[in-house]
Amino acid sequence: MYKDLLTLRDVSCGELEEIFELSTRLKKERGTFEGNVLKGKSIGMIFAKSSTRTRVSFEVGIHELGGHPMYLDQGRMQIGRGETVADTAHVLSRYIHGLVIRTYSQADVEELAKEANFPVINALTDEYHPCQILADLFTIKEHSGTTKVKTVFIGDGASNIANSLMLGAKLSGMELVVASPREYMPDAKILAECAPFAKWCEDPIEAVKGADYVYTDVWVSMGFEEERAKRMATLAPYQVNAALMSHAGKNVKFLHCLPAHRGEEVAADVMDSNMSIVFDEAENRLHVQKAVMSMIYRNLDK
Ligand code: CP
Ligand code: NVA
Repeated sequence: MYKDLLTLRDVSCGELEEIFELSTRLKKERGTFEGNVLKGKSIGMIFAKSSTRTRVSFEVGIHELGGHPMYLDQGRMQIGRGETVADTAHVLSRYIHGLVIRTYSQADVEELAKEANFPVINALTDEYHPCQILADLFTIKEHSGTTKVKTVFIGDGASNIANSLMLGAKLSGMELVVASPREYMPDAKILAECAPFAKWCEDPIEAVKGADYVYTDVWVSMGFEEERAKRMATLAPYQVNAALMSHAGKNVKFLHCLPAHRGEEVAADVMDSNMSIVFDEAENRLHVQKAVMSMIYRNLDK
């Protein structure tokens, strides 16, 4: 993570361990341990898609690290009226010290990072959601003491969550099975890149055998609303419910990046059960993102 966090390819194994250690302290000693790594720094936040967790946890996290979070409404910026990504990056480089961005195209985020002189953090694109998966890995480490567990992702295997989770499996040594219909299979290149840690399986019951964690995400990601009817029909056999969980490991835990749609990708009998650790997972977004920002800015100040 020299400057940017664009995908989990930017994180080394050593840095992942450091993120875990720092997040643990930031969580335990919230309000006293932060230091002032962002003092005097203004961090822009562009969200071209909806957000609850990411926006709020970054805004709070930046404030707690001593910085000034600046929400930039894309609809009211000139980029929304056709100003280029590169020009926007050059102009913002004269004012701000960092940017958290949620948008559609990963290529736009990469171009922005290339053109900007400040760190850029990917807060979700159609292709990746690295901050989410770092928080998920930390949550797994907290609950199991290790990330060397079996996690099964069920549902849309071609989503930003599945893509980042595969990279996360490779990074952390986790055994990951992505169970999805063929139509929503994981990207072949990412699957190959993450072998042997990530595998694909069409049968959800077969996939969850011996699972320590079962993870799902919405069937209709932001930007894919037009495909709703087809996705509902194709993904219906992949709902995570108590019947499916009964085939998993004895102490299986349930993960979901949220927001959840009860009755679609997850049944209430799992979402609201004591198997579910989704709110720990959501809380950890804050601690992990604070750790990531601390590491990036400490590095830049060196
Ligand atoms: N999990 C996640 O990124 O949630 P938001 O869309 O609410 O930010
Ligand atoms: N795959 C989902 C994740 C939401 C946090 C989406 O992109 O909408």
